[in-house]
Amino acid sequence: MSSDPVPAAGAGNGPDDQPAATIGLVGGTGPLGRGLAVRFAGAGHRVLLGSRDEARAADVAARLSQPGRDVAGVTNAQAAGAAVVLVTLPYAAQRPTLPPLADRVAGKVVVSCANPVAFVDGVPRPLRVDAGSAAQECAQLLPGARVVGAFQHVPAARLRRVEEPLGCDVLLTGDDDDAKAVVATLAELVPGVRALDAGPLRLAGAVEDMTAVLLSVNRRYSAHTGLRLEGVTR
Ligand SMILES: NC(=O)c1ccc[n+]([C@@H]2O[C@H](COP(=O)([O-])OP(=O)(O)OC[C@H]3O[C@@H](n4cnc5c(N)ncnc54)[C@H](OP(=O)(O)O)[C@@H]3O)[C@@H](O)[C@H]2O)c1
Repeated sequence: MSSDPVPAAGAGNGPDDQPAATIGLVGGTGPLGRGLAVRFAGAGHRVLLGSRDEARAADVAARLSQPGRDVAGVTNAQAAGAAVVLVTLPYAAQRPTLPPLADRVAGKVVVSCANPVAFVDGVPRPLRVDAGSAAQECAQLLPGARVVGAFQHVPAARLRRVEEPLGCDVLLTGDDDDAKAVVATLAELVPGVRALDAGPLRLAGAVEDMTAVLLSVNRRYSAHTGLRLEGVTR
């Protein structure tokens, strides 16, 4: 296995919980979940790809798995038993989906990937969120979880092209430096990704809002753009 971003202390809380090296994707059957699954599994981690429908998850996972790439299709609750959990749901789905998972993710690193964006007349527009951002709302819905906002700008279509380095930055927002370090290691499993600490969780809304701009650029140029900040060396 490659360097393991998952601390042993992050191991699960219950009888169905998985060993420390697993990465869970809640809402993992969509483009982002599938793209992250192939990258993390390809780097040597067991990925638990979650769905509302276990059969659907199993079908998607079977199509992503290959020798040396271990992706298991599970329920969202089982995915939340992994050591590190990524929420790859549409923003509107997190309020109904996350509260029942709160006990399973207490104390764990949880990554919020959601962008509250709506399309109005075909133009992407950031949605206002009472909590401030999808990531802050995720933290409210999962009290006790160590929530980090990340991967909001990563183009799923390019994650699936595993032979190509991504060449994007992943901006990390969060209030727990150790949790951000875990997610930085995870992000940099993807070749060409540079993880940058972008500050506290209260800045997640600015990161999420930028996605509307990237989607607009994608539309104009038929692109799958990501974000790369210049002038930062590390
Ligand atoms: N696509 C991208 O390139 C990209 C890049 C960066 C960030 N993001 C963000 O990542 C998140 C996921 O993106 P995506 O394109 O992968 O999303 P998606 O395909 O729309 O949704 C992901 C999965 O969520 C589950 N889901 C959908 N509606 C639900 C509901 N009402 N209740 C519970 N579960 C529901 C579905 O899984 P089941 O039907 O199997 O349960 C679906 O496959 C979004 O918030 C997006 O803004 C996307």
